[in-house]
Amino acid sequence: MIERSFVMLKPDAVLRRLMGDIINRFEARGLKIVGVKMLNISRELAEEHYAEHEQKPFFNDLVEYITSGSTLAMVVEGDDCINLIRKMVGSTNPKESDIGTIRGDYALETGRNIIHASDSPKSAKREISLFFDDSEICEYKMPDEHLVYENI
Ligand SMILES: Nc1ncnc2c1ncn2[C@@H]1O[C@H](COP(=O)(O)OP(=O)(O)OP(=O)(O)O)[C@@H](O)[C@H]1O
Ligand SMILES: [Mg+2]
Repeated sequence: MIERSFVMLKPDAVLRRLMGDIINRFEARGLKIVGVKMLNISRELAEEHYAEHEQKPFFNDLVEYITSGSTLAMVVEGDDCINLIRKMVGSTNPKESDIGTIRGDYALETGRNIIHASDSPKSAKREISLFFDDSEICEYKMPDEHLVYENI
């Protein structure tokens, strides 16, 4: 089933000039970027985005981290892409992330793990609407869709 996931490159990814490399991984895999923008996330938006972690001891550090600089927010579309992107991202703790995953290749610490990706269809819907207006999502057909997907 075609799904959309919310992906955010955290401030360290932007500062370390990793945006291009990370976006390229999604494009090369056959996934479609249908929304993208850079933004400095406000404290309110960071707290709302990570509301599920409000009671955790790392919550304040997490909000500080996410609001410490510019981020790149994306909506990525593709077949069953929510779980797929989580696999491409790797484990929360980069020391446990497999080599070949984004965190496994570019990060070392949980508190500097460079990327966020939605963990379920419900989270994806909530997060996309938190960061993007409908008018900011672009619908288009990839000319090589029949090369990426078998039954199209
Ligand atoms: N034990 C921890 N210590 C410090 N920071 C943590 C810890 N656990 C999680 N975090 C931070 O909070 C973020 C959200 O944690 P979560 O459990 O949702 O992991 P995730 O789903 O892999 O990451 P994200 O939601 O950013 O994609 C992590 O990406 C990390 O930056
Ligand atoms: Mg999470």
